[in-house]
Amino acid sequence: FPCEVIRNFSIIAHIDHGKSTLADRLLELTGTITKKDKGLNQQVLDKLKVERERGITGLSLSFSMFHEKNGTNYLLNLIDTPGHVDFSWEVARSLAACQGALLLVDASQGVQAQSISVFHVAREKGLTIIPVLNKIDLPAAQPEIVALQMQSTFGIDPADVIQISAKSGKGVEKVLQAIIDRIPPPVGDPSVPLKGFLFDSSYDRYRGVISLMSIQGGVLRKGDKIASCHTRKKYEVTELGVMHPEEVPTDCLRPGQVGFVACSMKESAEAHIGDTFYRVGHPVEPMPGFKPAKAMVYAGIYPVESSDFLKLEESIKRLCLTDRSVEVTRETSSALGQGCRLGFLGTLHLDVFRQRLEDEHDANVIITAPTVPYQIVHRDGSTSLVSNPTDFPDPLEFASGGRVRAVLEPIVKASIIVPEKYFSAMMDLCYEHRGTDLDWHPLDPPGQAGAAPAGEDSASTATATATATTDRVLMRATLPLAEIVTDFFDKLKSRSSGFASFDYEDAGYEKGDLRKMTFLLNHKPVDALALIVHAKAVDETGRYWVEKLFKIIPRQLFEVPIQAAVGNTIIARRTLSALRADVTAGLYGGHYERKLKHLNNQKESKRKMKKVGRIDLPQEAFFDLLSSK
Ligand code: GTP
Repeated sequence: FPCEVIRNFSIIAHIDHGKSTLADRLLELTGTITKKDKGLNQQVLDKLKVERERGITGLSLSFSMFHEKNGTNYLLNLIDTPGHVDFSWEVARSLAACQGALLLVDASQGVQAQSISVFHVAREKGLTIIPVLNKIDLPAAQPEIVALQMQSTFGIDPADVIQISAKSGKGVEKVLQAIIDRIPPPVGDPSVPLKGFLFDSSYDRYRGVISLMSIQGGVLRKGDKIASCHTRKKYEVTELGVMHPEEVPTDCLRPGQVGFVACSMKESAEAHIGDTFYRVGHPVEPMPGFKPAKAMVYAGIYPVESSDFLKLEESIKRLCLTDRSVEVTRETSSALGQGCRLGFLGTLHLDVFRQRLEDEHDANVIITAPTVPYQIVHRDGSTSLVSNPTDFPDPLEFASGGRVRAVLEPIVKASIIVPEKYFSAMMDLCYEHRGTDLDWHPLDPPGQAGAAPAGEDSASTATATATATTDRVLMRATLPLAEIVTDFFDKLKSRSSGFASFDYEDAGYEKGDLRKMTFLLNHKPVDALALIVHAKAVDETGRYWVEKLFKIIPRQLFEVPIQAAVGNTIIARRTLSALRADVTAGLYGGHYERKLKHLNNQKESKRKMKKVGRIDLPQEAFFDLLSSK
């Protein structure tokens, strides 16, 4: 396959706009899979169970298809990108291997926050963008209006927009034609020294690391000796080929091709995303490097049974082999024992990881409240990152003579797209979460909104559609990341009746007025419950948590004071009164077996208790406490 007949492309879209469905249809239309092989709705792209359940494509995969046009057989490489805000890092890395992208927008929902962010990533990389409107079969679809929206938001000519239904297959053939006609072929010379760009990797228990590479120049063959520009380590290629849609071995990968490469690489840590490979003895200039994945959210993960720690650690390591963006370190908590602190790309990433631990490794875990990384600026000018609230400096350390000069917190620039009638609710939400630099402008071109049916009180479908796709505003705000890793997204959805879409990008660090809040049970601090709180929210947060602990913690044989404290100052307090112990006391005159059963029940529930100081906390208490704000 010479370069001229190769097309490397991605599908970029807001979550649920139909990316996987379209990919399936393309695979079907090119005969790569048949409807019989895979049920109409079972998407090959979403290989991981969790992702399919949640409808999220997390890790990216790549597929090669063949399509004939005017007697020429074209090789089309679809490089999948994840569809959630947490995974924007992966979008950028996948797009680096493409020359074009299908920008897919749901015709019933219109342009959403993430359509805009992925569009900008693709545009920055200089990709050819093919606008595609999906779901035109839906009664609520408004393709003409949404095409105008794409014009005003992206500068796209409505005449270039392809209207399709990925579900029924209508119009999908036109997409294939456009991929061939509009996307430029990759440039690459087979006679120059080999240059292979590693953009993804997975791990196979028997074959070691399997890399996905895009060949930028030269030809890669089985048996070739290659080396990494990054580590200078050498490997021998044992197997290579294309994904069609499963691995199909080939003799070589030529310039412009995208395929899998197995070599003598044993550790997935050696596969650096963004690395360039060359033939041993023929070094090349590496491709412009990649930003490494940056953990935005940290949480401690502990086994419910302390003795399960090693098993849990092993499971975490195994999962990390297939999810390279998770950071892992060991940590110990006096309340929860030995565990691991994990860094994730976002809270959804954390959720997906937790569910995979439970589904694939049968792990029973307690996860502490997510925390963002804080930067501590010391008086001597040095800085350090704190990803565990327990390590956050105490108030005394901020005082003159203390070692800390300031604390910086991560900040993001958020974009929210919302129908105008929810605009003020969204403003309030941003202000409640310490939002600043708020600005907004209408998303739809002037005059267009009025043309669409509108009206607040009618509950007809037409009205719902009008609310979804027209009269909308694009708001931007600067927010502390800590404010959006809790319940911000849920509030955004509920206060906009589900219509708001949201995306954010990293905007560095800013000084924050923050405090470490500790919780004391029976005068002993419980490290796993510590939180970092903004100074203004100290009282409210303290009262909220103490009340919550009061409701969740079972009464003990003795009185238990529950306190929230910042430094030595107690912010809130409740006291659990003592309980009488004898569970058989009420069973006077009862049968011997009945008593035994009760005692055994008590033993069983004891087993599931976590001992915190002298206090028995049922595991559910930790779940309840830590799974909500
Ligand atoms: P992520 O992988 O989570 O980013 O989602 P996605 O963009 O891949 O969306 P997916 O293909 O999973 O589609 C989301 C939902 O829209 C599914 O329920 C699809 O069945 C449905 N859907 C996709 N295309 C169409 C279409 O053309 N018409 C209709 N009516 N529904 C569609």
